[in-house]
Formats: sequence, C-alpha cells, structure tokens
Amino acid sequence: MFLLQGAQMLQMLENALRKSLPESLKVFGTVFHINHGNPFNLKALVDKWPDFNTVVVRPQEENMRDDLDHYTNTYHIYTRDPKNCQEFLDSPDVINWKQHLQIQSKQEECYVWGIISAEGTVREREIYLLRQRTSFDDVSPLSLCGAQASLVNKFWYYGGNERSQRFIERCIRTFPTSGLLGPEGNLVSWNLMDQTGETRMAGTLPEYRGQGLVSYVVHAQEVTMEKLGFPVYSHTDKTNIAMQRMSDTLHHLTMPCDWNQWICMPV
Ligand SMILES: CC(C)(COP(=O)(O)OP(=O)(O)OC[C@H]1O[C@@H](n2cnc3c(N)ncnc32)[C@H](O)[C@@H]1OP(=O)(O)O)[C@@H](O)C(=O)NCCC(=O)NCCS
Repeated sequence: MFLLQGAQMLQMLENALRKSLPESLKVFGTVFHINHGNPFNLKALVDKWPDFNTVVVRPQEENMRDDLDHYTNTYHIYTRDPKNCQEFLDSPDVINWKQHLQIQSKQEECYVWGIISAEGTVREREIYLLRQRTSFDDVSPLSLCGAQASLVNKFWYYGGNERSQRFIERCIRTFPTSGLLGPEGNLVSWNLMDQTGETRMAGTLPEYRGQGLVSYVVHAQEVTMEKLGFPVYSHTDKTNIAMQRMSDTLHHLTMPCDWNQWICMPV
C-alpha cells in the first residue's frame, strides 16, 4: 500500500483518473478537490505506484473518531482490476472494517467486495454530467449557512439524523452552495455538493414545489462551480421523476455507469 504524497504524485493520479472517466468519476472528483486545497483533509492510497490498479480515497485516521459515523468514515474506490483488488482492500490501514463505514464506487463489480467484506446495501442511480445547460437570466445564487443544515438534513434521503446533519454542516462550510429564499426570508430551495464534487443534496419545501425552483438552484450551482473550474456532476434515484425531468430540462448528459453505495457495519 502506498500513500500518495506531494503535489506531483497527486496530480499524476488525477491525470490518470481523468482518462478513466466516467467510471472513475467519484474518485477523480475527490482527488481533484484534494489537489485544490484538500478541504476535507482526505488521503489517497494505491496498491502500487505509478502503475496502480486500485485507488482508495479516505479520511485521515484522526478525523475518524466516531466509530458509528459512516458519513465521515467514507471510502471512495476505483479499480482497474476488480477481480484482484480484494487483497488490497483487506490489507492493514486501507479500510477500517471495525467501524461503521460507507463505500462509494461507480463500479458495479464493487458489489462483490460488499458481499465478501461486510453487510451493506447497494443503491443504483442515474448519473448526470452537468453540461449543455439551458440558460437562465439573472442567476444570483444565495450561499447557505450552517444554520440551514437542519432543513437540508430533514429532506435528504440519506440523512435525518445527527451525524448526517454534521456532515451537511461541513459540506456547507467547505464548498459552494446555492439556495433561494421565500417571501418570509426562509430557505425554500437548495443544492449542495459533497467532498467528491458531486451535487447530491437538493430539495424544495413541499409548498414551493413544481415552480422550477430546484431547476434554478441546480443551474446556479453549476454556474458557480464551472467558474471555479470544478468538475460538475450529480446522480439521482431512478425513481425520482422530478429530478430526472429537471436534468432533461437542463440538458444534462446521462453517463453510462452506476452509482453505488454500501453502508457497512462490523459483524
Ligand atoms: C425533487 C424536488 C427537489 C423537485 O423540486 P422542485 O422545485 O419542485 O422542482 P422543479 O419545479 O424545478 O421541477 C423540476 C421538474 O420536475 C417536474 N416535477 C416537479 N414535481 C414533480 C412531481 N411530483 N412529479 C413529476 N414531475 C415533477 C417539474 O414539472 C419539472 O419538470 P419540467 O422542467 O419538465 O417542467 C422536490 O420534489 C424535493 O425536494 N423532493 C424531496 C427531496 C429530493 O428528492 N431531492 C432530490 C434528491 S437529492
């Protein structure tokens, strides 16, 4: 196992992952942000270097103090050799299987690792690369503040608990966000990204739905991220018709890969 350190190695990794898009998308996005200030304090491990087969991006041990916090204890994996990567994943200091943890990967084959290594769940999603958008006039996104994390948390499919709220607060503090206020000055529609650069926490208050608000904030977020030079992409549940229609309206490109997440617990 090699810990990649130094700007040159990490840039080489980013360049190599770029060549394997879209399968490497989540790991590519995460490494991109490591190379732009590493705001989530993550590290990249490879099985060998420079001709790596498998990359694992994970938090530093000192940031993984809560054994039950799978939002923080999250690993992103990309491999060129799904059949043989298990040995690397099981080697010491790559994944701490004693904690509650989350694994995300675009690669379907990872399901096998999930079965071998831990109990978990798989969720498949449509993946969108946010390009070729329709233009909106007067886009002026409002940035969210930490106090609005509880609202985002309430409507986030994967959230609704104290740990997810802490994770959302951290995302709001760290990355660009986009939101709209209603007539009362309260947040009514929002969109934000996670440490991989994926925009995956969008919502509109029920009483404001169907008015094009989420389409507006998603577009505003795209504009902000593109100005910063960030890779822009999202996923949506295959059953979430509203989000898929929004993606169609904004002319997002559907990517030929899956979105997989395992929530694992020690047995
Ligand atoms: C999904 C959600 C964000 C949509 O917000 P919204 O502000 O109502 O979305 P918009 O008004 O911009 O509508 C987007 C598209 O979906 C359509 N739509 C909205 N609600 C719909 C519904 N219930 N069923 C089918 N289509 C719907 C709209 O007509 C629009 O399509 P169009 O561009 O072809 O007209 C909102 O319903 C929500 O917060 N749901 C719960 C949380 C969630 O699912 N978040 C997204 C996953 S991260």
